[in-house]
Amino acid sequence: MLFAAFLIFASPVVDAAAAWDGSRFAWYTSDAGDDFKSGLPIGNGRLGAAVFGTATEKLVLNENSVWSGPWLDRANPKSKDAVPAIRQMLLSGDITGAGQSAMNNMAGNPTSPRAYHPLVNVGMDFGHGSGISSYTRWLDTYQGTAGVNYLYGGTNYSREYVASYPHGVLAFRLSANTPGKLNVKLSLSRTQWVLSQTASVGSNTGSHTVALSANSGQSSGAITFWSEARIVNSGGTATSDGKTISITGANTVDVFFDAETSYRYPNAAAAQAEVKRKLDAAVAAGYPAVRSAAIADFSGLMGRVKLDLGSSGDAGLQPTPTRLSNFKKNAGADPQLMTLMFNFGRHLLASSSRDTGPLSLPANLQGLWNQDYSPAWQSKYTININLEMNYWPALVTNLAETQKPVFDLLNVAIPRGRAVAKTMYGCDRGFVLHHNTDLWGDAAPVDKGTPYTVWPMGAAWLSSDAMEHYRFTQNKTFLADVAWPILRETAQFYYCHLFKWNGYWTAGPSLSPEHAFVVPPNLRQSNAHEGLDISIEMDNQLLHQLFTNILETCTLLSLPASNTDCATAASYLPLIRPPAINPTTNRLQEWRSPSYADTEPGHRHFSPLWGLYPGRQLTNSSSLAAASAALLDHRLASGSGSTGWSRAWAVNLYARLGRGGDAWRHAQALVQTFPSANLWNSDSGAGTPFQIDGNFGFVSGVAEMLVQSHRVDRDGGVVVDLLPALPAEQVSRGRVEGLVARGGFVVSELVWEGGKFVKATVVAGSGGVLRVRVQGGKGFKVDGVRYDEGKGVETKVGGVYQITADG
Ligand SMILES: *[C@@H]1O[C@H](CO)[C@@H](O)[C@H](O)[C@H]1NC(C)=O
Ligand SMILES: *[C@@H]1O[C@H](CO)[C@@H](O)[C@H](O)[C@H]1NC(C)=O
Ligand SMILES: *[C@@H]1O[C@H](CO)[C@@H](O)[C@H](O)[C@H]1NC(C)=O
Repeated sequence: MLFAAFLIFASPVVDAAAAWDGSRFAWYTSDAGDDFKSGLPIGNGRLGAAVFGTATEKLVLNENSVWSGPWLDRANPKSKDAVPAIRQMLLSGDITGAGQSAMNNMAGNPTSPRAYHPLVNVGMDFGHGSGISSYTRWLDTYQGTAGVNYLYGGTNYSREYVASYPHGVLAFRLSANTPGKLNVKLSLSRTQWVLSQTASVGSNTGSHTVALSANSGQSSGAITFWSEARIVNSGGTATSDGKTISITGANTVDVFFDAETSYRYPNAAAAQAEVKRKLDAAVAAGYPAVRSAAIADFSGLMGRVKLDLGSSGDAGLQPTPTRLSNFKKNAGADPQLMTLMFNFGRHLLASSSRDTGPLSLPANLQGLWNQDYSPAWQSKYTININLEMNYWPALVTNLAETQKPVFDLLNVAIPRGRAVAKTMYGCDRGFVLHHNTDLWGDAAPVDKGTPYTVWPMGAAWLSSDAMEHYRFTQNKTFLADVAWPILRETAQFYYCHLFKWNGYWTAGPSLSPEHAFVVPPNLRQSNAHEGLDISIEMDNQLLHQLFTNILETCTLLSLPASNTDCATAASYLPLIRPPAINPTTNRLQEWRSPSYADTEPGHRHFSPLWGLYPGRQLTNSSSLAAASAALLDHRLASGSGSTGWSRAWAVNLYARLGRGGDAWRHAQALVQTFPSANLWNSDSGAGTPFQIDGNFGFVSGVAEMLVQSHRVDRDGGVVVDLLPALPAEQVSRGRVEGLVARGGFVVSELVWEGGKFVKATVVAGSGGVLRVRVQGGKGFKVDGVRYDEGKGVETKVGGVYQITADG
């Protein structure tokens, strides 16, 4: 790719620009050069491509089970005997000694699990160097497709890229509008651990093959993959040099690609048979059929939600880089860029996380897209915020099925976590996860530092996501077969691990993710910066949610009170320490005592506010909400929001506080600060690594401004909150279709004007009592009748209810 020119051309004609709906398309008048973060991402939930659009096309392809090696048993056997002593040191005030002992005895060996790796690159040399004009490159977030068009030598050349979930392959069509003008030399390449690379020509009109297999470079147990592209030309002739295929004089060339790995297949023959099966089927169907099935599937998911936050006029019709740069100066002028970011986030989720059968894998730190053998933070699954944030939009924006890979991975992790519970904590029941995992469900502590390594709470957070999946979908089978086993086994670990402190069941050694405190004068070493302690505020909130979820499940599944899991949770819940408010600052307290001071007042994590979002405990009382707001304001005033995901979390938190203006301001700041050229979120702005979580947290943040449903009313029913945090000043009119509330209610339409609610339609997917609140307590009618807050509305399954502003 060294000779790939970096193309910059002005947009050819204004008419052409008019076609680029500013809420739907990211588009460019230049190629990506060698900038991965300008590559356009498509995916079918397992296979992904980043489209560079260079003169010699470069596609970075990924498959989500290509990781750096086999499972590693990293658990530290010294931990089991050390944990009681470490706990004792923390209780007796030797904070620094406890931290040192934890690092010596509990850190994993090695300290990191596996890393996510690239698959192969596709090169397509068309023989077009300089002389390209009228260049456009685009991503369609509604259809999940990308493409390139340009003129060269008087011919219009097009490339279209599709990721097909139904056929399980990637498919590309290359074409020229003058017959016989298409020449292309196609190759697969990889810089590491190639096992074999072949190419062969089939019959003239039939399919030609380019194949590459490789492994992850380990001597035994390496993950091996088999990849293959089938090339079908219309017109022209094909030749091969044994590694590449050259087509000359064609009208169109279609390419179908698949790769399968040893992660999901027992041997090479089985994986290769699957590659053959998928490619045979795709070639037999032909590109137009593969394309239309892919688009029907993808647009079916995307079309469930439609967002209109107002038009940007001409500002929204500009190429994406121009919009991003204008947005930094005047965010208010391009509301459609906010809509595009929302649609792009859903595009990324539907592209990177699908149920692809057993052992489907969730979106990692880079979703599905990675070109590096040493990606930032191994591009793994970080579960002290990042993996969970990836799925914040899943339920509320009606993509519940994209969560299935999370539960598949949890089921892989449970046996690992049982083993670690036993070896590291001496617990014979239940499972434990720390702050990262990989495709093998790695459960041991990761890295080596007191503010992040020993955090035995990963499963508690993930189990709460399983419960939320039920709350939105009302799928009782899921609750009984998937969520309940996860909840009860998560809790069983804590029945072993928790100890009584000041009368409360308490976790520890643990930490408040990634934040350190200043050791107070009465403890050792006074003034040292440490992370490890007991009775962390976030841990208490996670435990409160866990036992609450278990009791709710016991009721929903009609389990008897004598059921051991139900009875034990009932006995633990009242003895979980309630949230504390620092009496001096009036802010929610992050650690066990108000005498612990922040080392970083503007820390990026909002761990003590877990119970505000994504949890709910802190939304349940005005004093806790006020203390939460005080902490949130203080964090941001001190410089938090410094990473894309941190800023996105702030958006969701302000939305939960009903402060729509602030939520919107931070959402705009996110778009001004963190997106790269292709709209991917970056860790901390231009030049820092791609990290996908911020794209997803942005989507849920916008949704939380418009519809919430975490509040329960007096008798425990869900309240569907319409426009609870509308940024009425900044987005005075708008409309959204298809957001989902807990209880299985779909808000199929929601309209506001002049900053005020106008009307909504709610579909009761599962029946039940519909309780509604509008803009924090305004009066309204349901089907023309004034709403009675005491009663709610008794709904029928599938019933449709019209809500209109009162008067
Ligand atoms: C090239 O063809 C595509 C359709 O295949 C069209 O969208 C594009 O506008 C054409 N480009 C030029 C410069 O004519
Ligand atoms: C309900 O959950 C079960 C178990 O996860 C799943 O197999 C089924 O497809 C789900 N039903 C629906 C309608 O999504
Ligand atoms: C909210 O508070 C009430 C009263 O203190 C309590 O009964 C209820 O369980 C709490 N709900 C949640 C979700 O924490």
